[in-house]
Amino acid sequence: MKVEHITLAYGNKNILKDTNIQIAPGEFVFLIWSSGSGKTSFIKMLIGDLKPKSWKFSIKEDKDVYAYTEKELLAYRRNIGVIFQDYKLLRSKTVRENVAFAMEVSGYKDSYIEEKIPEILSRVWLLNKKESFVETLSWGEAQRISIARALIHDPEIIIGDEPTGNLDPHNAEDIMNLLTELNKQGKTIIIATHDDRIVNRLKKRVITFKDGKITSDRENGGYEL
Ligand SMILES: Nc1ncnc2c1ncn2[C@@H]1O[C@H](COP(=O)(O)OP(=O)(O)OP(=O)(O)O)[C@@H](O)[C@H]1O
Ligand SMILES: [Mg+2]
Repeated sequence: MKVEHITLAYGNKNILKDTNIQIAPGEFVFLIWSSGSGKTSFIKMLIGDLKPKSWKFSIKEDKDVYAYTEKELLAYRRNIGVIFQDYKLLRSKTVRENVAFAMEVSGYKDSYIEEKIPEILSRVWLLNKKESFVETLSWGEAQRISIARALIHDPEIIIGDEPTGNLDPHNAEDIMNLLTELNKQGKTIIIATHDDRIVNRLKKRVITFKDGKITSDRENGGYEL
């Protein structure tokens, strides 16, 4: 993924100023920004949902995401699984029903959904909770459903918007272990966060943003905001 000369703003409030970022397939990257400084906006921009003021970016071919036809945009988005911050789970439904619902909305056939769900749930270590109601799960388990949903199109790229934001240290570690495992299976992982515990423990590439600019970009980095 290569994003170049990005300026992203709301009115005259800049989120990013003429910024370049390049992430190779299979990388694991933390994007560090303080709260309210633009994590969610940046992710929306990447999935073609928030148009920057100026930009040039592509994921595979050298093609501008904001010049895609609707069909191309759909295909592009299917290759990116986003773990959203406000994961809207159906709390009075089961784990299986929550994933099935997301797949139905995406247009998959019932027979395919039934066949695929065990595989998806086992990837997020929830197969044994398949018929459990969401309201009976821990926060960490519930967050793993949102990762399962991000996996339904088997994307090459997974983006997390503060995936450990609401979790205690134990559950946060669990989620990061899961994301590390998915990375080992070849997925590119991009995590926007301001959780210093996980960043310092994992020693991955860390890109830090401040006032719309990248202030550091390090391999085996730590949290230094
Ligand atoms: N639709 C919008 N219109 C105008 N300003 C917005 C809009 N959405 C977000 N902002 C502002 O842009 C800034 C960045 O918001 P964003 O939600 O991207 O930050 P964030 O880093 O995800 O925050 P948090 O840590 O709270 O999730 C904030 O100051 C926010 O108030
Ligand atoms: Mg946010």
